[in-house]
This record gives sequence, structure tokens and C-alpha cells, in this order.
Amino acid sequence: MALSFFTRNKKALQARCRDDYATKMRLKYAPYYHAMEAQKGTTVKLDGKDTIMLSSNDYLGLSFHPKVIEAGRAAMLKWGTSTTGARTSNGSRRFHTELEEKLATFLGREACHIHVAGYLSCLSSVASFAQKGDVVLADKNIHSCLWDGIRLSMATVERFSHNSPDDLRAVLGAVSADSTKMMVVEGVYSMEGHIARLPELTEIAEEHGCFTVLDDAHGFGVLGRQGRGTVDHFGLNDKVDVVCGSMSKSLASTGGFVAASSEIIEYLRTHSKQTIFSAAISPSQAACAQASLEIMQTEPEHLERLWANTRKYRAMLKSLGLDTWESETPAVPIVLGSKERVYPFWKALLEKGVFTVMSIAPAVPAGKDLIRTAISAMHSDEQLEKIAEAMAYAVKKM
Ligand SMILES: Cc1ncc(COP(=O)(O)O)c(C=O)c1O
Repeated sequence: MALSFFTRNKKALQARCRDDYATKMRLKYAPYYHAMEAQKGTTVKLDGKDTIMLSSNDYLGLSFHPKVIEAGRAAMLKWGTSTTGARTSNGSRRFHTELEEKLATFLGREACHIHVAGYLSCLSSVASFAQKGDVVLADKNIHSCLWDGIRLSMATVERFSHNSPDDLRAVLGAVSADSTKMMVVEGVYSMEGHIARLPELTEIAEEHGCFTVLDDAHGFGVLGRQGRGTVDHFGLNDKVDVVCGSMSKSLASTGGFVAASSEIIEYLRTHSKQTIFSAAISPSQAACAQASLEIMQTEPEHLERLWANTRKYRAMLKSLGLDTWESETPAVPIVLGSKERVYPFWKALLEKGVFTVMSIAPAVPAGKDLIRTAISAMHSDEQLEKIAEAMAYAVKKM
């Protein structure tokens, strides 16, 4: 009997899933989706063995801070596990607006809106404001959530070379002066560890009337006074229109935020699909983020420790002759240049009890295949020594 149109299509999609080369390779080498059996701070249990976590985004090491854990627990007892609804309708609570007010004040902005994921916050920071016919100037190395935001906006995209004010100027030279323009950059690029050249980039953006969106997922908590982020690091608060970021990194929770002027945030609340049609963040998520924000302002030792660890770690990698792509931050890549070098290096580190993440082309530019590592304030001196031994071993194994 002939297959119906729908059955044939379903089978074609099943075959696509079954025959996918990238999935087959992932399953064969199994570098991703490791389910850790237990965790205590920067130590995770993997296949029954204690392993040092060297690739989390827990920069300030607050995910096991007693005050953060207690805040999450207390919020769940008071408010339940979920508001089970979108902010627009039944899901808005006082703890949401309180966190938004605190984040806005900390960032020196009039207003803020939080979402259930950093991905949504950053995506909607682009998609809510740019429209068909507008031109988005995007650094070539921005995160996937920003590319998705650009795609959804239907605006025309013009890419400029990573962190290059000269190329931004050249690209803008070919864009009509009349068009509505947006520049999209990150504060800290986590794959490279680079800090955005914000003074030059924002100066050019301003000259050309570009609305500026900055994703500071990896700068927040790490740079600036008390961790206020990349914009504060450069003292450029009035030059950036929208700052978005994640609460799953330095804030040791999950969720994301968009901070800007009141009129910009109210526009987002009216027009952003990700805001209108997605459930609000849970009571415990919000409470953990708020407790971490408080700790950032009252316990400076975490930020100090983060940078002391970062300096020590980078010096160790340098002494081994490893290429860290001129990283300036606690996100430190180890560039090895090919997947044939990356895989044994990653495996050797794991053998020695250090967990890292591989990034290979096309996720990174060809020739930049690397191991992603990130330092936390929670790494102890003893762990840093073990990491140094593992790195020396991995260099020999390559
Ligand atoms: C630059 C950047 N923006 C946004 C996100 C998304 O944040 P979240 O993981 O909280 O959804 C990430 C996370 O990897 C990121 O690195």
C-alpha cells in the first residue's frame, strides 16, 4: 500500500535523525552530556571518581554559599515551587519586581526585566527592538542567542571582525545613513576570554546613531565595581542602551535579565514574545539570584579570590607554553588548533581528574580548536596545584 504524504515525511525526518553524522560522532567519542553523580563545590563525581570542575561559569563560587542555598529554600517554602504562569498574566509576584529593582539599581539603570533563561533575555534584547528594514551590526563572535534574536527580528545583518573598531567603521561606511541601526556585542567573550573594546566601539556606534545592545553574561560579576560588569569597568553606562545577561553564571542561579531605561523596558514588556508568552522564573531561582547579588555587594573576597586564582592559573598555563588566545578574564581557552590535538588533551585531563569542555570547528574558527576552561573563586590552592599537574601531563600526551 502506498505511504500517505504524512507518513513519508515522518519517515524522512526519522532517517535524518538516525543518520546524522554529528550525532554519531558525539555518541562515539562521548565528550558532552556527562551526567555527574554528585557535586560539592568545584568537585564533581564522574564515573565514581572525584573530579575537579574546570569549566563551569560559577565565577564567584556562590552556588554552594550557605546564604544562597538558604534563600532558595526559604523562598520555596514561602511561595511554592513555581508561579506556573507568565508575568503578563498570572505569574507576576513581588519577588520578581524586587529583584528587578535591585538589579536595575546595581547596574545604574532605571529598569530591568528578568526571564527564565539568559538565552531568552539576550535573544529578546535584540528581537524586541530591531525590525525588518533595520540594520544590525554584529561582532562575528557573538553568542548563539544573539544570532537567534537577529534572525527573529528579520533585520538585515552586517557582521564585523571580532572586536575590531576599524572593521566596524568600514562596515558602517557602506550602510545608508538613513537606516535604523543597532550594534550587538558582548562584554566578555567566553570562548576567547576577550573584553570588548567598548570605548572605541561605542564611540563609532554613537557617531552613526546605533542603538547599542551588550550581552554581559560573562562580564557581570567579574568586571567593574563589585562586579557591575563591562560597562562599569569602562565607565560607559551612558553609551550602552541595553545591557542583558544571565543569572546562571556569577549569580549562581538560572534565568536572565535585560536592564535599560524605563521606556525601553516597558516597550520590551509590550512587544517581546519571549516575555509575554513564557512562564516567570521560579521563587527559588529569583531568591538565589537576589542573595548572590547581595553577597556581591557585601563580601568582596569572592571577586578578589576569583582574580587571584585567574592570575595564578594563567601564569601556570603560560609556563607550559600553552596558547590562551590572549584571554584577559577568568574564561581561559587553551587553543590547540585541531581536533586531533584537542581530543587526547581533553582525555588526559579527565584521566588526571580535571573536567573541561572541548570546542572544535565549526563551533570555533578553523585552526582555533580549543579546550574551554574557566576559573572559579571556589577553586582551592590544592585544586590549582592538581590542575597544574594534570596540564603538564596533558601537554606530554598531545
Ligand atoms: C554570552 C552568553 N549569552 C547568553 C547566554 C545564555 O545564558 P543562559 O545559559 O543563562 O541561558 C550564555 C550562556 O552560555 C552566554 O555565554
